[in-house]
Amino acid sequence: MGQLPQLDEYQQRVNQFLTNKLDQLACNDERLLEAMRYGLLIGGKRMRPYLAYITGTSVGAKLEDIDGIAAALECIHAYSLLHDDLPAMDDDDLRRGKPTCHKAFDEATAILAGDSLQTLAFDILSNHHFSEHLQSKRIGFVQQLVNASGYQGMCGGQALDLAATDHSIPLDALQHLHSLKTGALIEASVLMAADCSSTVSVEEKAQLKTFAQLVGLAYQVRDDIIDITSSEEELGKPAGSDLAANKSTYPALLGLEGAQQKADDLYQQALQALSTLPYNTQCLADFATFIVKRTS
Ligand code: IPE
Ligand code: IPE
Ligand code: MG
Ligand code: MG
Ligand code: MG
Repeated sequence: MGQLPQLDEYQQRVNQFLTNKLDQLACNDERLLEAMRYGLLIGGKRMRPYLAYITGTSVGAKLEDIDGIAAALECIHAYSLLHDDLPAMDDDDLRRGKPTCHKAFDEATAILAGDSLQTLAFDILSNHHFSEHLQSKRIGFVQQLVNASGYQGMCGGQALDLAATDHSIPLDALQHLHSLKTGALIEASVLMAADCSSTVSVEEKAQLKTFAQLVGLAYQVRDDIIDITSSEEELGKPAGSDLAANKSTYPALLGLEGAQQKADDLYQQALQALSTLPYNTQCLADFATFIVKRTS
């Protein structure tokens, strides 16, 4: 599988931004700050920031504006992983190749570090030095991230995920669950970055939204597949975790081949959505290809 264009550059860019942010925090509790660093800065593919950067630059947005969006998205994502791994949720011991935050620290600290990363996301959006033409969109950005991460988005999906453990659910319910728990933040990565440009029309934004929804769903379908087909070493998180927890997943409902067929169908539809856009969207197509082939 080929490397994504400019992946290193954008990973380094968001990592630098986040490192600077944490270095500037006046946090009295050294242990809490260390747990935040641990959960946010060590490892991770930075796919949501990457998607924000490639979407934004495709439609003429400035990198400096996308920085605030990308960093906020990664803070929410990192928080969601700290909480997802807790004993009360997936009870996993390995994340990004290291002991999970509650193993390296303790459960209370992992909960609080997650909470703090969540609020840091909104701190970043509230204070980012956006270009003049985006100042009036700031509250809109906050609202988009609220919708993507809260009960209508990621948290809502996580609740459905927990409710669908130990019994099978219909395929349309699984699709809804996946679209919320993982798709919502990926959709926000595309749409918030697109909003950093003032030239995207309503119709173009609708096409980008369709693309993002398809890729967001495919991201979790592939995550379910590699939980079975990749090793712990490749994943940096436990392999077979979904089977062990008796989770509702695409492979559980459709088998491995059926699940990959679903990912491939979503991929083809995603490319179709891109084809009508009047921008060079090759990098978005490459991202979609990466998503349905990734092994980690
Ligand atoms: C894992 O996300 C959880 C899902 C939503 C599927 P990633 O696969 O993006 O994990 P990191 O950020 O690279 O560790
Ligand atoms: C998690 O889905 C989605 C989140 C919102 C964190 P999973 O539980 O499948 O993610 P992994 O496999 O632990 O990374
Ligand atoms: Mg989970
Ligand atoms: Mg999990
Ligand atoms: Mg998973």
